[in-house]
Amino acid sequence: MSVLEQHYERAADNLSPAEQLFLDCPDEDAQRIRLAEFLATIPPSVREAMPWSWRWWARPSQLAPATNWRTWVVRAGRGYGKTRTGAEETRRRVRKGLAGHIALIGATAADVRDVMVEGESGILAVHPTGSRPEYEPSKRRLTWPNGATATCFSAEEPDRLRGPQSDWVWGDEPASWRSGVLAWDNAMFGHRLGNDPRSMLTMTPRPLDWLRKIEAEARTYVTTGATYDNLTNLAESFIDMVVGRYEGTRLGRQELFAELLVDTPGALWTQDLIDRHRVREAPMLQRVVVAIDPAVTAGEDSDSTGIVAAGLAADGHVYVLADRTCRVSPDAWARRAVDLYDEVEGDRIVAEVNNGGDLVETVLRTVDPSVPVRKVHASRGKRVRAEPVAALYEQGRVHHVGAELADLEDELTTWTVEASESPDRLDALVWAVTELAVEQVKRRRRSVVASSVAA
Ligand SMILES: Nc1ncnc2c1ncn2[C@@H]1O[C@H](COP(=O)(O)OP(=O)(O)OP(=O)(O)O)[C@@H](O)[C@H]1O
Ligand SMILES: [Mg+2]
Repeated sequence: MSVLEQHYERAADNLSPAEQLFLDCPDEDAQRIRLAEFLATIPPSVREAMPWSWRWWARPSQLAPATNWRTWVVRAGRGYGKTRTGAEETRRRVRKGLAGHIALIGATAADVRDVMVEGESGILAVHPTGSRPEYEPSKRRLTWPNGATATCFSAEEPDRLRGPQSDWVWGDEPASWRSGVLAWDNAMFGHRLGNDPRSMLTMTPRPLDWLRKIEAEARTYVTTGATYDNLTNLAESFIDMVVGRYEGTRLGRQELFAELLVDTPGALWTQDLIDRHRVREAPMLQRVVVAIDPAVTAGEDSDSTGIVAAGLAADGHVYVLADRTCRVSPDAWARRAVDLYDEVEGDRIVAEVNNGGDLVETVLRTVDPSVPVRKVHASRGKRVRAEPVAALYEQGRVHHVGAELADLEDELTTWTVEASESPDRLDALVWAVTELAVEQVKRRRRSVVASSVAA
């Protein structure tokens, strides 16, 4: 089934007029013919306006609900068209005279400028030339031909939102605002112009209390949607990257389907804990290890082998770099581990040898006789080993690098002692962080004690 056919099947009751036109067209040629036939039936003035007609392009769920909402929350997956929906609703309200004093809020000043204003789905892009507002970046201001103005705010500077009054507030991606509650509260304090001030939040969610409260308010209207709803309008590279990365993972339920993930009671990690300290890139690392929690039996029902790389920076923070966990034979996981060791320019491989004994070292040596291997033995329970590592996360000393660790993060945020599945990714991570940070802290403490005894 083609992407188009899949889309029609999945979103049958939420198609835009544009998409409905192409219903039953088997391929692009058929679409082209259908479009030409259709265009021949409408007057040229309408035809010219069509590229800019949101009513024509929008799926029903992207149009403002007819109810008497005060806040419209669009909570949807990555690439759903959230920003476009916010920009289009802003355009509509200005055109109708419903919005004249606007506040635009993004996570940072750069986000407001690059995404909400100048982005491919931002305010400037959705206006035809004649009605496009003038943008003065230095004043952080947009001015429409009809006199309406919008001011750009960064959630990083919530104090600036105190004071200005507004009749329309649009916030994009509030789940990643650093001072989210404060920024929103300040914005709402001045949100009292005219007799019908309204606001809008467009976001891929995270389970944050302040956003949950907004969704629960009586006059909040919540629209939800999935990345898949907009599949036909997304670049293939975006689909490969985002859908490929998250499909089938727990985190994918949040990123692709915008589900509010509830923390697992008893789990040592929460997604928020991981997200809060995530970084895009690792700094210079002093020491890098690849840790392995090996499955020693091969075959269909063997466990997977956890393989995780992490590094230590000069300030003692740990950066989790990659997860190559796999369910393959010992030869194959040894190869993967050594490949990862080469890729991250590792200093050492740390391998748990409870099950395999010397076999583990032997298979690694077969792949590369020179690789330094440290064998570790689990003498304490999993939870006891994992707790000091989770504590380092809580102190903000462990950072996940990039967004490629969804499977590992799923395991961290859902594993509890009662779980029957063996958490191989978690085990490998715990060995890596223990080797880099926990052991080091212990050694340091021991040497402090030793030197104070000596004194
Ligand atoms: N109904 C639609 N018809 C045509 N194109 C659309 C429609 N909705 C969104 N798009 C286009 O899809 C692309 C993604 O939209 P947008 O940037 O608004 O998504 P998003 O949900 O904000 O994504 P992200 O999660 O990356 O922030 C843009 O090119 C946008 O113009
Ligand atoms: Mg967006």
